[in-house]
Amino acid sequence: MSIDQPTDGFETRALHAGQDPEPITGAVIPPIFQTSTFAQPRVGEHLGYEYARTGNPTRTALQVCVAALEGAQHGIAFASGMAAIDALLRRLGPGDHIYLGDDAYGGTYRLISNVFGGHGVAHSAVDLTKPETMAENWNPATKLVWIETPTNPLLTVVDIAAIADITHSFGAKLVVDNTFASPYLQTPLALGADAVVHSSTKYLGGHSDTIGGFVAINDEDWAADLRYLQNAVGAVPGPFDCFLTLRGVKTLGVRMDRHNENATRIVELLLGHHAVTHVLYPGLPGHPGHEIAKEQMSGFGGMVSFRLRGGIDVAMKVAAETRLFTLAESLGGVESLIEHPGVMTHASVAGSALEVPADLIRLSVGLESADDLVADLRDVLDRVG
Ligand SMILES: Cc1ncc(COP(=O)(O)O)c(C=O)c1O
Repeated sequence: MSIDQPTDGFETRALHAGQDPEPITGAVIPPIFQTSTFAQPRVGEHLGYEYARTGNPTRTALQVCVAALEGAQHGIAFASGMAAIDALLRRLGPGDHIYLGDDAYGGTYRLISNVFGGHGVAHSAVDLTKPETMAENWNPATKLVWIETPTNPLLTVVDIAAIADITHSFGAKLVVDNTFASPYLQTPLALGADAVVHSSTKYLGGHSDTIGGFVAINDEDWAADLRYLQNAVGAVPGPFDCFLTLRGVKTLGVRMDRHNENATRIVELLLGHHAVTHVLYPGLPGHPGHEIAKEQMSGFGGMVSFRLRGGIDVAMKVAAETRLFTLAESLGGVESLIEHPGVMTHASVAGSALEVPADLIRLSVGLESADDLVADLRDVLDRVG
């Protein structure tokens, strides 16, 4: 009998779903099946696995576990978040249209506009904090609506359930990029989304040591298409990457609790500092999406963005001069990172509708001692302020 049950709590599923002891040796942790192929007892018969692009037991363990965390029937792992996003977007063909939020992750926008756009897929980047405007101007060629909440890097929050209702009333499907919240803080399928996508490089993996992507989904037909694409295109994660991601997932709950706490301490510092003009964090009562975030999230996460008095020069200095916050792209790891989205992660949207302010800094608040993080950031803000 499997040791995981769908009714188990989040942390129990994180530790046990898909992770029964390995039957031959009793290994408690799903082994890294570092093999490209699997011996078959007879022609046309196999023991569940044939070739490691098609399937690998370490990947299966990860897929079962993260699907269980998102409350999904199906989980499909990919080599990166972008590969997972690409697989979902392949639902679209020439003449189809997609809506996405006007501050979506720059890489998602680039893939939709430059790659799928080149194959005849049209898109509109709209303000999804006002979904009724999208409904009033609905483009009948729309097959997908794509949302992130909270967004990268402006931390905009949109109402998943309301957008799901609108999307379904027009016969389209809703995808939610749940990378920033993680399933510990938000489960979009329960709010009406049709598919959830992750850059598992971020909070799921949690240790900045692997790249990965994930789709969690209940729709049987779409899941079958995605599994087909996983094998046919071959953008699959290797067994070691699956192992690392699964090891990260085991501590997702405790990590997210501490990310929430440390981010709250950083927000308190920023709110009181004269060098800072705006603090963007869904946990703030003054954040435009705060009430929705309280409804659909169980915590506000570890991502904090802020804007500085003095424009881009000051922002560049702050990003470069912290001691503990490492200047680097990516997010969601145990260590704190700082970046300038305009020049770094979101350079690909410069000049587009999705351009981000030049005085914006994004923090991924990690798990160091909160006092040290606050002191580090205060030091640099005092120097520029
Ligand atoms: C919200 C979001 N979605 C998707 C991606 C792409 O994921 P990956 O870098 O794993 O391909 C990122 C990467 O930063 C992201 O922040």
